[in-house]
Amino acid sequence: MAPKLSHLLSAILVIFSIQSFRGQARTLKPEHRQSFSSFLQGLEGIQKGQTVEGLIELKQYLKKLGYYRSDDITLTSSDFDDHLELALKTYQEYFHLNVTGNLDSSTIQQMMIPRCGMPDIINTPSTKPNSTTSKHNKFHMVVHYAFGTQKWPPSKYALTYRFGSGVQVVGSDTLRSVCSKAFRTWAKVSPFTFQEATAGASADIVIEFFSGDHGDHYPFDGPGNKLAHAFYPQDGRLHYDADENWSIDPAVDQFDLESVTVHEIGHLLGLYHSKDHPEAIICGNCLGSVELSEFDDKKRSCHRRLFYQNAR
Ligand SMILES: *[C@@H]1O[C@H](CO)[C@@H](O)[C@H](O)[C@H]1NC(C)=O
Ligand SMILES: *[C@@H]1O[C@H](CO)[C@@H](O)[C@H](O)[C@H]1NC(C)=O
Ligand SMILES: *[C@@H]1O[C@H](CO)[C@@H](O)[C@H](O)[C@H]1NC(C)=O
Ligand SMILES: [Zn+2]
Ligand SMILES: [Zn+2]
Repeated sequence: MAPKLSHLLSAILVIFSIQSFRGQARTLKPEHRQSFSSFLQGLEGIQKGQTVEGLIELKQYLKKLGYYRSDDITLTSSDFDDHLELALKTYQEYFHLNVTGNLDSSTIQQMMIPRCGMPDIINTPSTKPNSTTSKHNKFHMVVHYAFGTQKWPPSKYALTYRFGSGVQVVGSDTLRSVCSKAFRTWAKVSPFTFQEATAGASADIVIEFFSGDHGDHYPFDGPGNKLAHAFYPQDGRLHYDADENWSIDPAVDQFDLESVTVHEIGHLLGLYHSKDHPEAIICGNCLGSVELSEFDDKKRSCHRRLFYQNAR
């Protein structure tokens, strides 16, 4: 049945600690948004069998998001190999693109869209690590508004939060008011309640901004691409990329702090990215575009139902 919580937790931690992105922030400087986009554009049309410098970063990108079926594939070369082709096909299927396994234009365009840093696909640990036939069992594509097996127990439905001492990006009153609204949004559709912890007290959820590598194996990457991430229960860390241009009233080149916060709280509560609900607040790359007004009654009831199923 469902893997033990401890297994899944360690799987998530192991998967993402195997390939640390330590070098990436340095390699892709200084204007990361432009570099990463032009880096991706430079890869367009590369064929299987070719060896091209930079492919290893693409592999790391795909692996971090869960598109490699096995966490024991080591990414040491810049060859366009079978594993990369398979990872690309999985990516294309996830985003409803033509499943070509090629670095075609629509795939590159999709990768250029800013997104959440959490994976789209959760690789669950294999009970038979040496068996090739078990590879498919290891690979679990998250197809719905998925709940992981990591949950808060009902005794922990009254969650507290506090703001950490990371990089100061947004005024503390602004951040406090944005987060308070975002938590209220979730409180309406879930059995959870949220309260800011009293000063100096510990809290279940800690919210802060960081720049680049900040020690949790999910380094940020300068402007664009990865905007934020938040860990599954009962971790409680929510991090924003301090290098984004955040706003509470976003212009075209800015990101809306509240929408992103609502999305990330979903992860804190145990939600994974959803493949087949691109309109959902919890899809992987809808962070910059989802309007809170789209968080309508239909989706509220969907969330509510899920939480009640989860609570049983
Ligand atoms: C998929 O391929 C078809 C036929 O080549 C093409 O018309 C269509 O635009 C492609 N779709 C995407 C999303 O690239
Ligand atoms: C996997 O490991 C088991 C027990 O450790 C062994 O019996 C089996 O032959 C191994 N299978 C392969 C494919 O190596
Ligand atoms: C952030 O966006 C605003 C509005 O578009 C712009 O005026 C400002 O220069 C941007 N700041 C940075 C650091 O890019
Ligand atoms: Zn996310
Ligand atoms: Zn982080």
